[in-house]
Amino acid sequence: MSDSSSWAAIRAELSGPAGLNMGWAAADRHVALGHGEAPALRWVGRDGAERTLTYADLAEHSSRFADALRRLGVRRGETVFTLLPRVPDLVVALLGTLKAGCVAAPLYAAFGPEPLRLRLALGRARAVVTTAALWRRKGPLDVPHALIAGGDAPEGTHDLAALLGAADPQVPVAPTGPDDPALLHFTSGTTGAPKGALTAHDAVVAQVASARAALDLRPGDVYWCTADPGWVTGTVYGVLAPLACGATVVLDEGDFDTARWYGLIERQRVAVWYSTPTAIRLLMRAGDDLPRRFDLTSLRHLASVGEPLNPEAVLWSRRTLGRPFHDTWWQTETGSIMLANRDATPGVLGAPLPGIGAEVWRPDAEGVGELVLRPPWPSLFRGYLDDPARTAACFAEGWYRTGDLVRRGADGLFRFVGRADDVIKASGHRIGPFEVESVLLEHPAVAEAGVIGKPDPVAGEIVKAFVALKPGVAWSDALAAELLGHARRRLGPALAPKEIAVAPSLPHTRSGKILRRLLKARELGLPEGDLSTLEDGAG
Ligand code: WT7
Repeated sequence: MSDSSSWAAIRAELSGPAGLNMGWAAADRHVALGHGEAPALRWVGRDGAERTLTYADLAEHSSRFADALRRLGVRRGETVFTLLPRVPDLVVALLGTLKAGCVAAPLYAAFGPEPLRLRLALGRARAVVTTAALWRRKGPLDVPHALIAGGDAPEGTHDLAALLGAADPQVPVAPTGPDDPALLHFTSGTTGAPKGALTAHDAVVAQVASARAALDLRPGDVYWCTADPGWVTGTVYGVLAPLACGATVVLDEGDFDTARWYGLIERQRVAVWYSTPTAIRLLMRAGDDLPRRFDLTSLRHLASVGEPLNPEAVLWSRRTLGRPFHDTWWQTETGSIMLANRDATPGVLGAPLPGIGAEVWRPDAEGVGELVLRPPWPSLFRGYLDDPARTAACFAEGWYRTGDLVRRGADGLFRFVGRADDVIKASGHRIGPFEVESVLLEHPAVAEAGVIGKPDPVAGEIVKAFVALKPGVAWSDALAAELLGHARRRLGPALAPKEIAVAPSLPHTRSGKILRRLLKARELGLPEGDLSTLEDGAG
């Protein structure tokens, strides 16, 4: 079977009476096939409480959600944000938004008020689904409708449970086609504010194909993705793809905890597990004895994503968990997994999935070049919101440019080398230095700020800031703590710098941009490289 015909076959398989709709494909389709009573979602609460929702439950609740949006006057194509902990209402809101023909934009609950306000404004939010506690904690957010999950709706907001109770449990799904917009995820580059990457309903075709090919996901599998649905991995591979595949999705409200995690695999009989190198390194650090106390024999396939997977992690998981972690590579803009390491050779990123063309673009003498992919494929983003110039800049000579550096071994398989730009990957989260620098610059003591990813043995990278102070301001431990506190309040713990240092001035290019690469080279004690673009006398 050729690849485009297998995409065509999956597209036909996932399409319903109203066309191709991600929300319908993930929930109602299974009901239509007679599998409505199969468990779709197994929610595990922070305190260990459990709740199971069947596919029929998800279809009904998400219909009610879609109808509630309509009653509020939210129309097709408009954007509905979620800002929620990992609770079933998050899944209901996501699927219901898609079934209403609206665009679903997930936000991470650990974002501070600044990144939230920026994203809600950029995405022209018509509604946000959140909790009373988050609504109060994040301060006033500018959005026409706030739908409050879990009760205690503050004045001026809507109680989600009441809206769902009054809504139609079987409202028809909005007719959508493969090219209608479905998901909006914000992502960061080197310069400028975060950009909203739009993907269309057709993405579910490649998401299902890749979940089968790279995650070995089969109907009925108990599946756990540890990523929060506030990030693209958690939306796509934590909710949409596994549901569309007919798996049982484990949704854990709790935070990372080694014994809790092993206990969850044992108790839920998890077969397929998708996690990150940072989480694996945390498990490794807790030692080999702990996992031996649990029955982990249900595990059939382990996969990892988001940052380089070190070979030790693959060897460790093979030895300790009985299965190796398989690396997978993708990014927000690609919409689904593009490369996967099928036999889990340590240190290897892998090969392109069927239908995906990949090349090393303009390799240097060592064979290192940019990873480029041949468009189109079903989940390729349809552009950055309101930014055609930036969208166009991602494409050259018939390729989509990923911004990652790779090389190919004699075996033809790809190896990850690094980012071609200044994007930071902290615990697998993509962080744009500009967003962090902008918040530091708000502080009256700061004249200039430059932010880099500093290598870290567990998190891969941590965010480190360098600042130059305004004339007359003296550096002190108290000022350092104040700046870190300011950044944390504004940005939230996910984006805020962990370390800060002062410099008399920061190095610039001739065009005035901060040379973050030089800051990083100095931090690491590396050669400073070609400084010909350095501004005279700076640094
Ligand atoms: C960037 C994309 C996590 C995927 C979805 C989030 C880096 C991704 C790997 C990997 C080394 C990786 C790349 C990529 N990345 N997977 N297996 N090995 N680096 O996507 O937030 O848009 O981040 O994550 O640099 O470009 P994202």
